[in-house]
Amino acid sequence: MKNPPRQSAPGAQPQGTTDEASASRYVRRLFSDIAPRYDLLNHLLSFQVDRYWRSVTTRQFRHLLSNPAARVLDLCCGTADLSLALARRGSAQVIASDFSHPMLTIARHKLNKLQRDGPPPLLAEADALQLPFSDDSFDLVTCAFGFRNLVNYGAGLQEIWRVLRTGGEVAILEFAEPTGPLMAPLYSFYLHRVLPAIGERVSGVRGSYSYLPGSVDRFPSKEEFSEQMRAIGFSGSGRRELTWGIAVLYTGKKTAR
Ligand SMILES: C[S@@+](CC[C@H](N)C(=O)[O-])C[C@H]1O[C@@H](n2cnc3c(N)ncnc32)[C@H](O)[C@@H]1O
Repeated sequence: MKNPPRQSAPGAQPQGTTDEASASRYVRRLFSDIAPRYDLLNHLLSFQVDRYWRSVTTRQFRHLLSNPAARVLDLCCGTADLSLALARRGSAQVIASDFSHPMLTIARHKLNKLQRDGPPPLLAEADALQLPFSDDSFDLVTCAFGFRNLVNYGAGLQEIWRVLRTGGEVAILEFAEPTGPLMAPLYSFYLHRVLPAIGERVSGVRGSYSYLPGSVDRFPSKEEFSEQMRAIGFSGSGRRELTWGIAVLYTGKKTAR
């Protein structure tokens, strides 16, 4: 099956939306609707590999997470699986943030059960494009599978840059499409045919999981996204492909411009 042509886009634009405001409302409603079944579907549709991807991410930032004075912002935290993994990895202060209230309600239940040495993670209901945090206030900003849902990728990177202190680091984990001759068609079939069908059936929300393949298709290529990060000013930008390139961990550091 042939993929629709990949295009560079300023941000997510679900079908039927006309501008950033309507796209943002759509995305927030969609995730709020699927929140009750989100964890189940996440683990089911990724065959539990999502746990490995989060673990790779937290392992890479052990040096920051083990510092009790460090402040970590987990953007688009959803039900807080990455926030939990970050908190378990050390004693840094973790702040989990998302703009979907139902997602945060589930996140709060999970975070309340956490026992750790450091301070309990905090929750913030906020739009990643307009964060209620001051400039230069975090040592690490993470975002797992949330970034491609932002309605303006450039603005999202700028906002991460703003809240990071100089020397602070960013980690964005996102889906990509593998390019290998065997995996590319197999994954494309899975992403465009199998996943929407299972997602819709299990979530009970019509059309919910048809948005996902479109959002992956629309996201810039690995090379383009790395270039966007560099253009914002992130230095030492790294890109680690995981599981045949189905997921990519993009990293970078805020250095003085
Ligand atoms: C695919 S889920 C990822 C959740 C979690 N990080 C994980 O790894 O499972 C995407 C999340 O991004 C959130 N999101 C999308 N756009 C957002 C925005 N502009 N501001 C804050 N959260 C946003 C959604 O509400 C949703 O919870």
